[in-house]
Amino acid sequence: MRKPSAEDVKEKLILDLGSGGAGFAEGIKKHQELSSRVVSLDPNYNLRTLTEENRDLMQDAVKEINEQKLEAVAGLSESLPFKDEVFDLIISNHAVPWHISGDTEKVVKSIEEIVRVLKHGGEARLHHVEEKIAQAIESAISGNYSIESRKGIIITRFPAVSAAGTL
Ligand SMILES: C[S@@+](CC[C@H](N)C(=O)[O-])C[C@H]1O[C@@H](n2cnc3c(N)ncnc32)[C@H](O)[C@@H]1O
Repeated sequence: MRKPSAEDVKEKLILDLGSGGAGFAEGIKKHQELSSRVVSLDPNYNLRTLTEENRDLMQDAVKEINEQKLEAVAGLSESLPFKDEVFDLIISNHAVPWHISGDTEKVVKSIEEIVRVLKHGGEARLHHVEEKIAQAIESAISGNYSIESRKGIIITRFPAVSAAGTL
């Protein structure tokens, strides 16, 4: 899969799924000229408090993500604590689905969550993706998405189309 170019990450609200040490966010921060912001999500950021109750609280807290300027959020890809259609770009490097590829149900739930929080016209770039998992992803979503490539996968959510044309 082609590496994201500067153009791919410019002026975007980006979600890094399974961000680990948040190195991607750090890299983007160094390039102020890109005017992009990264929200890093990983279950390990706050494992002790990630109970059902706290997850609900967190969901409320991050609903207004644009106002809150959040940088790092504890969470799981299969239950993303964000409202619909928030992100321009979602990336995941050796995390989703790679890290959870032994559990197809988790992968499918994560993909459904990814497309839910992706804006129309936005894209998700997931790397690394095994062939078997790529097939599960393809059959889990259809219609308003295009899927490209193997090893890595790019899911593009088509722009909404109105009577007057593309919105
Ligand atoms: C191999 S590390 C990759 C970290 C980082 N993306 C990088 O490239 O350095 C995999 C990460 O996926 C995270 N992870 C595991 N299961 C996850 C899930 N269900 N949702 C989100 N992240 C998950 C782990 O906590 C871990 O930080």
